[in-house]
Amino acid sequence: MSEITIRPFKPEDLPRLQDIAVRAWIPIYEERKRLIGEVLFNQLFPTGSECKREQIRAFADQTPEHMIVAEDGEGCPVGFATFYINQENRIGTLCNNAVDKTSGLKGVGQALYAEVFRRLKAAGMEVVQVNTGLDDGHAPARRAYIRAGFDPAGIESVTYYKKL
Ligand SMILES: CC(C)(COP(=O)(O)OP(=O)(O)OC[C@H]1O[C@@H](n2cnc3c(N)ncnc32)[C@H](O)[C@@H]1OP(=O)(O)O)[C@@H](O)C(=O)NCCC(=O)NCCS
Repeated sequence: MSEITIRPFKPEDLPRLQDIAVRAWIPIYEERKRLIGEVLFNQLFPTGSECKREQIRAFADQTPEHMIVAEDGEGCPVGFATFYINQENRIGTLCNNAVDKTSGLKGVGQALYAEVFRRLKAAGMEVVQVNTGLDDGHAPARRAYIRAGFDPAGIESVTYYKKL
């Protein structure tokens, strides 16, 4: 754990974090393709996990202060997490987060979540929520969220597709 440092986002991190995101979401998009078939997949997600590149850029442009980075002992980014604050209902949201599996470090996700929780609490949030998929592609995320102490709130929605 001591090899992992959590720090604020810096603009020069962006390309590296975009690469981490695109790679981390590949298995998730592969599983989606398997579940809904290639034709529908190509229509719904024409760029596959590449779409994460733009999502992360938009987040970094709009709310860079709500983006944190995990770096290894050499100062290389190995993961990131983003979050939202809602001052009205005092519910914080953990959003896009991803880890570079090839770093070989264990507990990067947990270190990021602990810092997100700390920041949310400092901002007056009383609850933190996170949304994830129920498919096999999201299994590592579900495991990590349970490990971090989240309680599943039940199945709130499911997406159906029908070919017309
Ligand atoms: C979700 C995600 C960010 C979680 O990150 P992570 O680093 O894998 O999560 P954790 O820190 O909980 O666990 C990683 C490993 O470290 C271990 N670990 C956790 N805390 C630890 C600690 N304090 N010390 C040592 N090891 C620890 C875990 O047991 C786990 O080991 P395993 O891979 O052998 O099972 C990552 O799986 C990912 O990038 N997934 C793809 C993108 C994604 O799904 N994002 C979320 C969308 S909703």
